[in-house]
Amino acid sequence: MAEAFPVTEGGERAKALWSSGDYPLIAERFEPVADDLLDAAGAIAGRRLLDVAAGTGNVALAAARRGARVLATDLTPRMVELGRARATALGIEIEWKEADAASLPVPDGSVDVVTSCFGLMFVTDPVAVIDELGRVLHPGGRLTMVNWEPGRASQRLFEPLRRRLPLPPGPASTDAADPVDPGDWGRSEVIEGWLGSAFTEVACTRRPFSWDFPTAGQAADYFLSASPMHACALAALPGEEHAAVRAEVETMLSEFSTGGPVSVSSPYLLVTAVRAGS
Ligand SMILES: C[S@@+](CC[C@H](N)C(=O)[O-])C[C@H]1O[C@@H](n2cnc3c(N)ncnc32)[C@H](O)[C@@H]1O
Repeated sequence: MAEAFPVTEGGERAKALWSSGDYPLIAERFEPVADDLLDAAGAIAGRRLLDVAAGTGNVALAAARRGARVLATDLTPRMVELGRARATALGIEIEWKEADAASLPVPDGSVDVVTSCFGLMFVTDPVAVIDELGRVLHPGGRLTMVNWEPGRASQRLFEPLRRRLPLPPGPASTDAADPVDPGDWGRSEVIEGWLGSAFTEVACTRRPFSWDFPTAGQAADYFLSASPMHACALAALPGEEHAAVRAEVETMLSEFSTGGPVSVSSPYLLVTAVRAGS
């Protein structure tokens, strides 16, 4: 059997996962989501905004354009490198730091706004991370995040890989019994429990999103080469199995089409909350 899909832990294996594929091609599809998230964050001009699990900087860049003073953090050095280079090329001032979401490099109560776009949902200890967000935000500070809904159609695209690899719990999980289920971040009742008494004014809204492609074949090539999770898992398989995986993924994707364009619905949960206390 091929080596296990390297996704369960924070640290080195997660960094290897998130350095796989071609993430900027994924991130470009999330730019409207970053705007949706910031519209919900309220007034941010002049505010100290911390974007956690910032990836290549969609939210950080959009926030800086809206006048926020932005610190962008991410666990993965490759993401920080790409994000920093992107901001520099655009002439936009953002501070970048490598950091695990459970240990953020800022003092207590020093942040006005925390944001995260499809980032917090991939940490391994949600409760520790929520505690950390509560530590860095001052009372009245705002948390705004978006997380994929559980059971979204695009998760089915892991099945051809899952049949061949021992995928452990983690980002590719489709199993509600897993101890780390990223889908929990898309369940409002779970989020409300995690935020607990440290946050007030919790609001969760379901938003539509779809992955759209001209053909199922183009969609299969996109996911298998650009998506870090798919690319990482595919790379763990012997080369002679790649064509069969691609064919199975294309067949699945063709179910989201009536012969032409493909549209895979993947709603997300938009969450806003305010740090409690005075
Ligand atoms: C799906 S990407 C989202 C990136 C970005 N927010 C965006 O909207 O494109 C998930 C990100 O979470 C980061 N990540 C995963 N685990 C993390 C952790 N424990 N602490 C901080 N970042 C983490 C990954 O490196 C990756 O950049």
